[in-house]
Amino acid sequence: MRLTIKHVFWVKAAIHFVSLIFFADLVWRVLSESFGADPVEGITHYTGIAALNTLILTLIISPLAKVTKQGMLVRCRRMVGLYAFFWATLHMLTYFSLDLGFNIALLGSEIVKRPYLTVGATCWLILFALTVTSTSRIQRSMGAKWQKLHNSVYIALILAPIHFYWSSKSELIEPAIYFALAISLLLIRWKTLKRIVFRPVIRRS
Ligand code: HEM
Repeated sequence: MRLTIKHVFWVKAAIHFVSLIFFADLVWRVLSESFGADPVEGITHYTGIAALNTLILTLIISPLAKVTKQGMLVRCRRMVGLYAFFWATLHMLTYFSLDLGFNIALLGSEIVKRPYLTVGATCWLILFALTVTSTSRIQRSMGAKWQKLHNSVYIALILAPIHFYWSSKSELIEPAIYFALAISLLLIRWKTLKRIVFRPVIRRS
């Protein structure tokens, strides 16, 4: 069975529903104090993992659509990507508000001083740029530059597990699994990546 635009509507509704469930779960955990002795660490972990999972999911959609021959699935990609930005922003705001007390100067100096935060902030900035340029109108007005900018999602995909690994003091297995997933998603796109990386070099020479 081929998915139609009607099915896409229901898939999108399901994505909203699942995201709402996870957000409600986060709020419930905070209100019921189930994050234990260090709720800030609990919230940071929850939102960071949610951002990483959603980013990985965003990049799984295209290969999945290809393998299952369900091209319509690609229409859900933008929405899942926007949820990745939503969770990443909640994650960054948790740190900015609960750890740093909304001190913007301190946020800047921490990002410059701590390499794992520099990596996280770069990843967030990429997701921010992709989010603000995600509408069809902006896509049309940017022309070929739009695709170039949106190719930077592959950089974000690599930076996120590096940030995870660098931020954790003892955890190795979980960040390594995410890193392997990210590399696999890049290898699936090897031909496209080769074109993106080497074409400008060929043009210059
Ligand atoms: C300005 C942007 C960001 C800031 C300030 C930030 C800050 C932090 C902090 C403070 C931690 C906890 C470190 C610790 O436990 O001591 C952390 C962990 C983490 N961050 Fe970020 N982050 C940012 C962006 C991102 C992005 C864009 C992603 C994913 C797409 C992400 C995913 C994660 C993950 C998965 C963890 C590990 C969670 C854990 O196991 O506790 N972060 N981040």
